[in-house]
Amino acid sequence: VTLPDGTPAIVRPIRPDGGPVLAERLQYLSPQSAYQRFLAAKSFFSDEELEYLTRVDGVNHLALVLAVSTPEADEPVAVARCVRDPRDPETAEVAIAVIDAWQRRGVGTILLSALARRAWAVGIRRWQAFFLAENRGVRRLLEREGRALSERWVGDGVVEAVYELAPQGSEDQVKKAE
Ligand SMILES: CC(C)(COP(=O)(O)OP(=O)(O)OC[C@H]1O[C@@H](n2cnc3c(N)ncnc32)[C@H](O)[C@@H]1OP(=O)(O)O)[C@@H](O)C(=O)NCCC(=O)NCCS
Repeated sequence: VTLPDGTPAIVRPIRPDGGPVLAERLQYLSPQSAYQRFLAAKSFFSDEELEYLTRVDGVNHLALVLAVSTPEADEPVAVARCVRDPRDPETAEVAIAVIDAWQRRGVGTILLSALARRAWAVGIRRWQAFFLAENRGVRRLLEREGRALSERWVGDGVVEAVYELAPQGSEDQVKKAE
């Protein structure tokens, strides 16, 4: 993919051995961004959290990384994931974080759109998201991928919103496009 400013990047599933990179990249999220993502202060991950965040199956737990490409290496700058609700398998809870230096450069839009295509291909039709009511950025991103079905206040400034994903073509079309 190419960011709006022309920077080349790749979108790929998170790797099972990606824990150390994820832990290192957390340091590039400001405390405010980390709070917006985890709805709590977050400065490190436990081993159990890293295991959970990287051992994804691509069907019930999808996680995509966007890495910007430099001649030397790929630098991961964002991760987006969604986790299927076992009680309502067409619904998955979605979350995204873009490191501060790369925010407002189109990364979130590209990554969430790629995640929506993958999610659709495995039968996910709705995204549930928890975010701070004041978080205009994520609201904008989610509204781009689907239609808001509901929104409710859950306390401490946090809302729970549910979006119906926009149809992404047949599963075959999605696979071919990838
Ligand atoms: C929210 C977040 C994912 C947005 O990612 P991003 O890469 O900055 O988003 P983009 O550059 O693709 O911008 C998408 C749209 O949102 C808007 N936007 C982004 N950040 C915004 C902000 N802070 N305030 C208002 N609008 C914002 C952009 O202007 C853009 O709209 P436009 O295309 O109409 O101009 C990113 O800011 C982030 O990781 N924040 C911290 C973690 C978080 O809040 N996660 C969400 C909770 S799960």
